[in-house]
Amino acid sequence: MNKISEKELAAIAAVKLVKNNMTIGLGTGSTAAYMIRHLGDRIKKEGLTLYGVPTSKATEKMAQENGIAILSLDDVKKIDLTIDGADEFDPYLQLIKGGGGALLREKIIASNSEYNIIITDASKQVNRLGKFKLPIETIPFATQQIAAQLQKRGLEPVLRKQDTVAFTTDENNNILDLNIESYYNLEQLNQELMTTPGIVETGFFLTTTDLVLMGKGSKVFTFEK
Ligand code: A5P
Repeated sequence: MNKISEKELAAIAAVKLVKNNMTIGLGTGSTAAYMIRHLGDRIKKEGLTLYGVPTSKATEKMAQENGIAILSLDDVKKIDLTIDGADEFDPYLQLIKGGGGALLREKIIASNSEYNIIITDASKQVNRLGKFKLPIETIPFATQQIAAQLQKRGLEPVLRKQDTVAFTTDENNNILDLNIESYYNLEQLNQELMTTPGIVETGFFLTTTDLVLMGKGSKVFTFEK
C-alpha cells in the first residue's frame, strides 16, 4: 500500500472533526484538495449533509464533484469551521498564504469563520515567516505603480505570471510576490500594505488561526492557540 502523504494525514485529522450539518469554509490548494476528497468519502459512507463555502472556483468545482452542497457567503448565517492549507506557519500560528492565488477569498472566509483549522505538511513549519515570498493582491490599474513603490522599499516585488502573461485571481486582480525577509514587525508591514490604495489583500493571516494540524512522517502534530 502507498504511504499516505503528510498533507493527506493532516487533512484526514481535520475531517474527523467535522460534524453532520456543519457549514464548512473550504480552502484552496493541494492539501485542501485532500480534505475535500475525504469529506466526500464521509458523505458517501456516513450519509452526512455538509454545506461548503468555497475559497476559489477550483475548490467549488471539486466540492461539487464530492457531494458537498455549495453555499455563497451571502447564503450563510455562520461558517462553523474553515479548513485550509498554508504556505508557512510560525510558533504563534501566524501564516503566509496565497501560494495558490486565492488569498482574498481565503481571508474573507477565515475572518467570517467561527473556528479555523490549518492543515499542512512539515515543510510549512518555520520559526519566522518570510522564506516564502509574501503574496499581495493588487488591482490591475495600480499594479505597476505599487510594484515601483515596493521596489524602492526593498520588497523586491515580482509580478506573478501564468505562462507568459500576468496571473489573474478569481477576482480578476494581479498578485505581486514580495521578499519580506528583512522585515521584523509583520503587523506594521501588513498595516502599511493594507493601507496602500490598490492593494486589496495580503497573504499575512496573523490572527485568524485556531488550530494547526501538521503531518510529519506518519504522525499528525497539533498546534493550538
Ligand atoms: C492558496 O491560495 C494558498 O493559500 C494555499 O492554501 C497554500 O498555498 C497551500 O497550498 P498547498 O496545500 O498546495 O501546499
